[in-house]
Amino acid sequence: MKRIEAVIYGVGHMNSIATRLLLDKGVEIVGAIARSPDKVGRDLGDVIGLGRDLGVAVDAGADAVLAATRPDIALVAVNSYLADQYEHLARCAEHGVNALTLAEEAFYPWRTSPDLAARLDELAKSNGVTLTGTGQQDAYWLHLVATLMGTAHRIDQVSGTVSWNVDDCGPEVARDQRVGDTPEEFAAWLESEAQPPSFGRNGLDALVADTGLEPASIASERVPVLAQRAIHCTALDQTIEAGRVIGFTDVDTIETHDGPVFTCHMTGKVYGVDESDRNEWTVSGEPDLHLSNGVVPTQMTTAASLVNRIPDVINGPAGFITVDKLPRLRYRPEALASYVEG
Ligand SMILES: NC(=O)c1ccc[n+]([C@@H]2O[C@H](COP(=O)([O-])OP(=O)(O)OC[C@H]3O[C@@H](n4cnc5c(N)ncnc54)[C@H](OP(=O)(O)O)[C@@H]3O)[C@@H](O)[C@H]2O)c1
Repeated sequence: MKRIEAVIYGVGHMNSIATRLLLDKGVEIVGAIARSPDKVGRDLGDVIGLGRDLGVAVDAGADAVLAATRPDIALVAVNSYLADQYEHLARCAEHGVNALTLAEEAFYPWRTSPDLAARLDELAKSNGVTLTGTGQQDAYWLHLVATLMGTAHRIDQVSGTVSWNVDDCGPEVARDQRVGDTPEEFAAWLESEAQPPSFGRNGLDALVADTGLEPASIASERVPVLAQRAIHCTALDQTIEAGRVIGFTDVDTIETHDGPVFTCHMTGKVYGVDESDRNEWTVSGEPDLHLSNGVVPTQMTTAASLVNRIPDVINGPAGFITVDKLPRLRYRPEALASYVEG
């Protein structure tokens, strides 16, 4: 294949890192989409602090960029939940563009937003493109764990403890994690709105799907994490007073018919000094197994996973194809185009 052409859809923290990695892997950036006036009109290289211009102006007109560039793939990093993400993935499909997104719910949306996922699947099939969600979940919450499970004879329980730093993301994620709420505001939010699925829940759904087991019951709990002392949230550029919310922990448990129970404790919060991302899994059964990934540099591993997944998406069948249906994630030492079939 000639060089892969890509559009950067959302010029925030994650796609800024990914852009550099794409360039290192021989991908041609042909367009960039953002919305804020301080980015639109500037060169992408300037916005992401690359140290050189790329000859690509950041543009607010997503349809116009996709129509004019017709890239091989759009890398979408704008928001988390499928209800918000739908318009962006639908737009890519309608323009005949494959899309790979970091939206957490897109990692495995079939149980939390089945109707939207089915509509996107239809749209992707009718336009002959592949839509896929990836990110930190791909290796660290799904494929590493699934491989560990493959070394067990009998499994009773799979339990994960993962954490990530709100300050590794932008302000929207911080607001989604309710940073700055009083405990009363957080409790009122839990009561007042239908809660979006936790990122852990979508990861567990993928893991259960990978085993071929069917869920029998699903329980979810959302617990606020309160600041023990005043702490600065860089994502919001705001100091959060002691006693206010700095994020929350989701505990999701999926019981399966005739199979293991899957649990994920996932905390997304503003970190204090000396805190770092965790990713640990225990498989209980015959035998008991444990996977600890030490300190996980999530921003970098997420961006690298996003980039390394690109050939699978371009090679993939048309539809909304979750990564449990794709080859496992692979290191890509060569230019990405060399992994594209045909
Ligand atoms: N799956 C994973 O492992 C993983 C890891 C990290 C992050 N994420 C998710 O990926 C998403 C992006 O993360 P991030 O840290 O890069 O966030 P971020 O720094 O806030 O960047 C988001 C970008 O999306 C742009 N945007 C938002 N709505 C848009 C729209 N309607 N049209 C065009 N651009 C739009 C924003 O543009 P402006 O700046 O111009 O407003 C911003 O640059 C978040 O939802 C986060 O939760 C997933």
